Amino acid sequence: MTTLTRRTFLHAMSAVCAAGPALAKSPLAVLKAAVAEQQVLPTEYPATPLWTFNGTFPGEALRIKQGDRVIRKLENTLPQSTAVHWHGIRIDNAMDGVPGLTQAAVEPGGAFDYDFAVPDAGTYWYHSHNRSTEQIARGLYGSLIVEEAEGPDVDRDIVLLLDDMRLTQTGEISEDFDSMHDKSHAGRLGNIVLTNGRMDLSYDVQRNQRLRLRLINASNARIFQLGLQGLNAWTVALDGMPLDQPQAVEGSFVIAPAQRVDLIVDVVADAGSEAFLIHFERDGGFAQVTFDVGGQDATQTRPAPSPLPPNPDHGRTDLAAATPIPLVMEGGAMGGMRGAMMGGRRMAMRELVQGGQAWALNGVAGLPEAPLVDVFQSETVRISMRNDTAFPHAMHLHGHHFREVLPDGTQGPLRDTILINRNETRDIAFVAHNPGDWLVHCHMLSHQAAGMKTWMRVQ
Ligand code: C2O
Ligand code: CU
Repeated sequence: MTTLTRRTFLHAMSAVCAAGPALAKSPLAVLKAAVAEQQVLPTEYPATPLWTFNGTFPGEALRIKQGDRVIRKLENTLPQSTAVHWHGIRIDNAMDGVPGLTQAAVEPGGAFDYDFAVPDAGTYWYHSHNRSTEQIARGLYGSLIVEEAEGPDVDRDIVLLLDDMRLTQTGEISEDFDSMHDKSHAGRLGNIVLTNGRMDLSYDVQRNQRLRLRLINASNARIFQLGLQGLNAWTVALDGMPLDQPQAVEGSFVIAPAQRVDLIVDVVADAGSEAFLIHFERDGGFAQVTFDVGGQDATQTRPAPSPLPPNPDHGRTDLAAATPIPLVMEGGAMGGMRGAMMGGRRMAMRELVQGGQAWALNGVAGLPEAPLVDVFQSETVRISMRNDTAFPHAMHLHGHHFREVLPDGTQGPLRDTILINRNETRDIAFVAHNPGDWLVHCHMLSHQAAGMKTWMRVQ
């Protein structure tokens, strides 16, 4: 394991560190999008003005039992229109929160009633889906945890929302949301890294405790490479969906924007020491989350965790019956794209860039008139995604989970977001079981804003 170097200025912070935000269970059925200030930088800096759900950053932690309904009135007190997308939920299309596709954006002063059932247990999140590069960067997101009727046997269940943020010297969100450089390169990256809105998050744990860590990448564009020290871990779910078998974590792992990883973790560090969730960067490893290990050195050792209970059927992906649909990703800096269709007209790259666009899917920048996929309910769809750009992309499909079709023909775990590196072609397959119009887009939000989106119609 690499030696851990902590950012020196974080040491000052450790004294004031407490546990993460409590899981609020508000009796109010309101989800208020509102401006609020919160201390994000060390206390010698000013507090940061944020856009929040129910006054905190991250937004109110929502927790619900599998099969129950989420019923919330979105009240928009922000100076911009907004809408809430419930990422990864197999939701009624009308509740999916995509302005221009499933609802009108909620104007300042306006409201919208979200009311939907959650069929699947797991780790999800909710976020603004209007001007999302800006609104998510300003703080408009929160966790949405759907509890299994019978969850795994753990001592603690900890939600960890990973993010980065671009702040100015005076602690304000840097307002360069439309930066053409971000749009055409890797997306909007931050200058500080956060977990649950904090730069130095720590928990008091005990040796041999078993924790469930629910990692959610809520950042605009950062691909987190993570590792563990003093923790013995198994991956038990990806993007909310249980793996058939828990997989021991060895070395580092990657979590792309919008993806989730559920870990079951045994604290194996000695009492009196620290364990870490490590965030690897080019210049070394940093403490993303610190676990202060206390208590008795209990000798109890536990067997590897059992799989989480499976979620209800997602349909049988019968690849032989699927029509492959090609999806070619082009554009961006160093991508060599010469032009693309936009608004029904062919435009040269220079003209696209003048209009704030930089990417195309199947030769079209921005939402095309005709859907990428147009199928009847319960048809099997196979999309072959080819990344002809110089950057990785985290492609997300709304309303469904899919499985990757691996080179040997077998199918990977259920996911809702897949990271596709440059020069890669990756195939996904799923049963289109959920009727409606569904967005398909890159979750590097500047890329989405600059053209990387299309849609699927299931009738
Ligand atoms: Cu997490 Cu279209 O979004
Ligand atoms: Cu992208």
